[in-house]
Amino acid sequence: MATSSLLFALFITILNIRMVMCASCGPIIANDEERIHVALNLEFLEAEFFLNGALGKGLDTIDPSLAAGGPLPVGAKKANLDALTNRIMEEFGYQEVGHLRAIITTIGGFPRPLLNLSTENFANIFDEAVGYKLAPPFDPYMNTVNYLLACYLIPYVGLVGYVGTIPNLVNYNSRKLVAGLLGVESGQDAVIRALLYEKANETVLPYNITVAEFSNHISQLRNRLAMCGIKDEGLIVPLQLGAENKTESNILSADANSVSYERTPQEILRIVYGTGSEYKPGGFFPSGGNGRIAKGFLAKD
Ligand SMILES: *[C@@H]1O[C@H](CO)[C@@H](O)[C@H](O)[C@H]1NC(C)=O
Ligand SMILES: *[C@@H]1O[C@H](CO)[C@@H](O)[C@H](O)[C@H]1NC(C)=O
Ligand SMILES: *[C@@H]1O[C@H](CO)[C@@H](O)[C@H](O)[C@H]1NC(C)=O
Ligand SMILES: *[C@@H]1O[C@H](CO)[C@@H](O)[C@H](O)[C@H]1NC(C)=O
Repeated sequence: MATSSLLFALFITILNIRMVMCASCGPIIANDEERIHVALNLEFLEAEFFLNGALGKGLDTIDPSLAAGGPLPVGAKKANLDALTNRIMEEFGYQEVGHLRAIITTIGGFPRPLLNLSTENFANIFDEAVGYKLAPPFDPYMNTVNYLLACYLIPYVGLVGYVGTIPNLVNYNSRKLVAGLLGVESGQDAVIRALLYEKANETVLPYNITVAEFSNHISQLRNRLAMCGIKDEGLIVPLQLGAENKTESNILSADANSVSYERTPQEILRIVYGTGSEYKPGGFFPSGGNGRIAKGFLAKD
């Protein structure tokens, strides 16, 4: 009995190592527009989640031309937020509209991809993160802390994607654009994480899980899905992951020199699809992302 479970654990470990070895963590060949288009998918996701959460209405009520006829997001709705959080999320939503316009007018765009912002999709991601079925299912729209935890899922992925994109860009105009997008994206992530850190030791009702524990579970899930090591850290960490190994607080997630982690397009797609595979759409993007890079992976499935 003990031997067979040991063998099973060994088998799972080997399987995990194989998955890491097979997954590509390396660079891909693409031009500036194609690289920035990976991020455009995430900007649509953020715009719809923030605008709907704060205002109960999305991009099409503000500037439908930016969506270019893409399908309406599924399941997005007004979140039950306190006044401060609602104000912050409304501003973030408008910022995403600006980001969409900036990308589309600088390099051109594509229609908004199909987005799954349903309670059920978030509930699945949170189940996956904690490793069992939460009862009742996690509802991102129910209250401020749930919505902030759901937000913890989103801008950080854009941030590490932009950090990974900039060194590969060739043209001055694209570098300038992405540096500017990165600045605001990391600001959004910092605000969300600071608001959550204030509640780090609070239990998220009705679960017996604190805010900090949820953040660690979500960060670990993203590291597992992306399959390229630790590039994502929760709000309270062991000292060796804290800044200069001197603090367990981890209000910003960064490497040993407090420099932002970077991710490739493959890693980003593995995370936002929730499947751990850039070839298998799902999660927030049931039909996959748009743009040459995302579509290229889908075609190969
Ligand atoms: C959204 O996600 C939920 C949960 O996985 C799923 O049941 C639903 O079919 C998805 N919607 C679309 C349009 O893919
Ligand atoms: C949470 O608890 C830890 C250890 O119990 C403590 O060091 C930390 O200051 C607390 N953080 C907050 C934000 O209350
Ligand atoms: C909640 O979790 C803590 C530790 O994570 C544990 O000590 C405690 O017994 C749990 N309480 C309930 C009611 O499950
Ligand atoms: C912190 O710990 C890590 C790993 O344990 C190590 O690589 C790093 O050099 C340490 N940093 C400092 C500033 O001591």
